[in-house]
Parts: sequence; C-alpha cells; structure tokens
Amino acid sequence: MERKPYLDWIVYQIYPRSFCDANGDGVGDLNGITQKLDYLKELGVNAVWLSPCYKSPNCDNGYDISDYRDIMDEFGTLDDWKRMIGEMHARGIKLIMDFVANHTSSEHKWFKEARSSRDNPYHDYYIWRDSVPNDWQSCFLGSAWEYNRPTGEYYLHSFAIGQPDLNWENPKVREEMRAVVDYWADLGVDGFRCDVLDYIAKDFENGLMNNGPKIHEYIKELFGRDKVKRLFTVGECSMGEDKIADFCGANRDELKCIFQFDHIGLGRTGDKFERAERDIDGLRNTLVKWQYFTERNNLLYTLFTDNHDQAHFISRGGDDGEKRYETATMYAAMFYLLKGTPFLYQGIEFGTPDPHYDALSDFNDVETYNYYDAYQGKLKKEELLARINFGSRDNVRRPLCWDNSKNYGFSSADKTWIALHSRGAEVNLAQDRNNTKSVFEFYKRLLALRSGSDAAKYGVFEDRTQGNGYFAYTRTYQGEQLLVVYNFEQEKEITGLPDCEYVLGNALPRRANGRYGAFETAVFRKR
Ligand code: GLC
Ligand code: CA
Repeated sequence: MERKPYLDWIVYQIYPRSFCDANGDGVGDLNGITQKLDYLKELGVNAVWLSPCYKSPNCDNGYDISDYRDIMDEFGTLDDWKRMIGEMHARGIKLIMDFVANHTSSEHKWFKEARSSRDNPYHDYYIWRDSVPNDWQSCFLGSAWEYNRPTGEYYLHSFAIGQPDLNWENPKVREEMRAVVDYWADLGVDGFRCDVLDYIAKDFENGLMNNGPKIHEYIKELFGRDKVKRLFTVGECSMGEDKIADFCGANRDELKCIFQFDHIGLGRTGDKFERAERDIDGLRNTLVKWQYFTERNNLLYTLFTDNHDQAHFISRGGDDGEKRYETATMYAAMFYLLKGTPFLYQGIEFGTPDPHYDALSDFNDVETYNYYDAYQGKLKKEELLARINFGSRDNVRRPLCWDNSKNYGFSSADKTWIALHSRGAEVNLAQDRNNTKSVFEFYKRLLALRSGSDAAKYGVFEDRTQGNGYFAYTRTYQGEQLLVVYNFEQEKEITGLPDCEYVLGNALPRRANGRYGAFETAVFRKR
C-alpha cells in the first residue's frame, strides 16, 4: 500500500496576535513564536500554519493585507520572520504561510490607486459596477457592494468593506499573485493555506460568488508550476464529494488537499451563532463517509475540529465543565487517529474552552459586530449577547493562557489587545500539566503514537460501530492494527470488538469490550 506524503505531517495553527507577546506591547509577535518552538517540538507537531502576519490595518486581523511582501509592524520585521523560519527548520518544523488571494486591504496601494480614477492603471485590479448589480451579501453580512465616491462606482467585497475583492479576470492580477507565491517560496516556506480560494473565480452569469468556471485554470496557474509544485497547499474551499477531486486529485496539479467542513456544524444551526442540539452520531457518520470517500478516491483528507474562525469544538460538542478533560481527549483521539493530515489549533492541546463575557465591548471581531448590528432590535439583548458568546470568532482569539502569572503568561503589558480568557485562571497550560488528568500529556502521547505507528498514519480505515451512542474504528497497515473506541454522552456497554492490547485512553486501562463512561475513549493495538 502507498505511503502517501503529508500523512506524517502534524500541523499546529498559530494565530500570531494571540500566541505569545515577546516585546510586551500586548500583541503577540513573531519573536514570541520563536521562543515557543521547543514547546511545539515537545508537543510533537512537525509543521506550523501561521495565520497572516503581513502588513495590514487589521480590519479583519491580518486577513486584509496591505503589503504581501512584508511583516505587520506589530508582529516584527522580515528579519524576525527569517530567524523564526530558520529556527523552525532547525527543529524539523515546516512552515505553512496563509495566502489571501481573494482580496487585499482597502489600504493596499493597488486599491488606493484603483479607487482614485477610472483611468488609473490599477483600476481593473478590482471589480467595479456603475450601480449595485445584484443582491450579493458579504459573508460578514450586509451588501457585498460598496460605493466609491471618486469614481462614482461600487466595488465588490465578499468579506468586510475593508477587503475589496481582486479581479482575477485581469491577467496582471494573476501575475502579481504568482509573484507573491514565488517570493515566499524563494524565502523557503514549505506550503500555503489558501484563504477562501474558491472565491477568486466568480460566476456572475449564475449569480454565484465563488467556484466560478475559471477556478481550476486560476489555481493551476498558481500552484501547478514546476517551481512551486513541491509546496504543500491546503485550500479553504469546502467542496462536496462531486467536486473535491477536481481540486486535489493527484493528477490535477492544483491543491494537495482542501479543508472540508461537513463536520463543523456540530451543536449549532446553519447560523454559527445559534446553538442546536448536538448529534454526535451524525458527526460520526459524516467522518465515516469522508474516510471511505477519500480512501476510495485516493484523496488527502484534513483532520481538524478548531481553527481561528470557529468557536471551540469541545464547548458545543461535549461538556467543557466537569468532563472537559474527557471531552477534549476523546475528540483529540477521534480526529487525530483518522486517516488524513492533522491540524491542531493553538490551545487545543490543553483543552481550552470558550470563554464568556457580559459586555459587547469585550469583543473585537468584525464578523461579530456585523452580526450584532444585523440582529440588534430583532432579538432581546440577552439573547443576542448569548449568541455572540456562543458563536463569536473571538472565542478562539483570546491570548493563549500559558500559566497563572500576569496576563496568564501571554504578555507583560498592562493591557492586552483583547480581553483575556475569562477562564484563564482555571484552564492554562501550566495548571493543566500539573493535573493528574492532563490534556497536554494526553496530546503528547497521542501524537507520539500517531508519529510512531504506520497504522495510524497510513492504515486503511474500517468502521466497527454497530448501533448508536459510540464510534469504533480500526486502522490497519501490513501487520499492525489500531482499534479505537469512543463513547459519547451516555454510559454504555460496548461489545463485539476484537480484543487487543491497550495503549492509550482517558479512563482506567481495560479491555476493548466493556462499560464506558461519558466521553471515555481507549486505543488498542494488535501486531
Ligand atoms: C477566511 C478566514 C477568515 C477571514 C476570511 C476573509 O474565511 O479564515 O478568518 O475572515 O477568510 O479573509
Ligand atoms: Ca508584541
């Protein structure tokens, strides 16, 4: 059987603003990341995806880029970046940069020029209309068209007003973006996470903002070239089974994989701010479906529960109070022992839950404020605040809680860029490592197990569940087999599984068949 590349990568996502502040100004920075590389090594990851660190006025925390070739002042300098990647590579850690191709900041010099007159050479870098042509809504709510007085036109912004969409129909734009990819490739990066990549191709004819007919041509032009083919590329472009192979099939020269989001809605409605009953059996069925589908079609799957856009999975997927340890470790084992490339979001490794705030002023995120504005007056104030607390992206953007010192060890500043995590005194790394039930220790052992086991990395997946309320699967490679059992919310007697040697779990060691408590999990091995 084929040992596919990237199945042995374990990626850790860093949101630089909130990771570690080395110079004490209240904002995380690149030198802070460099200081923590030994920690990441100890955890057992071998790649980092860094959310944007380019120059930006921060209307969307760096996803609005004003210079693709330089570092945001608050985060440091290009020399700091070079030192950081050097130190990463010295430790065998690869670096995946965020690549925001759909839009720039409205402060980018291209847009400043473009908006100044219809004759400006940069005007055609963006998408303009004389009047609002359709009812397209921004992903952050409100019309996607914004008036520009100097030219008397409207420009398209699929996201915030400060994020005008680039016009990919213009060959010059495509050339500029290829040059950006090459610039970072020449500086030694190992890959790109491609922000909302499906949005670069619009389909005006059919009224669709993304995944237009030219999407494959554009992606291939970017990443199919010999010079950059070696790079790992993961697209943020959730696709169904009918389309995914067109983006990351082995023969396509486009992407290595995409983030597939089918499982992410656990415990909420289609509106990410609205709680719903959680259906963990449904989650299992989704995972099973994608495991078989990607195996059959020889595609690389991505394994993740959290990122900088989603409230913490453990807070809506289980019990982040009394059973926080069990919930966090069960989902860790469930996802990261599947076949695919694991992505861990900062703080997940010690079970960081969602915080809670009583005032809107404790929030920062543009999506959150737009949601608040859209529902103000339509919902009771308490209900609206409850929704914000439930769904805000700020849930995962609080300064990381390293220990119990000032600002939980994130920064020595008197004021951090955003309010600290409301549960930081209770849930922080140092505290967790002192617990007999340590999420971090579990993660370390889990990732070591994954790295040291061909079955965990390359093994064929087989669903062993019979009934509901739990999930059991095997991963088999040559003579080695892993069996993993996850019990959901109700205590349950699980039977009918092959018995083999216990290797890891979040409850007392025992046999595969037997009684499991809420969110208990165990891993077994046969050779
Ligand atoms: C992606 C990013 C998100 C950002 C948006 C606009 O969805 O993950 O954080 O706000 O694109 O760039
Ligand atoms: Ca700083």
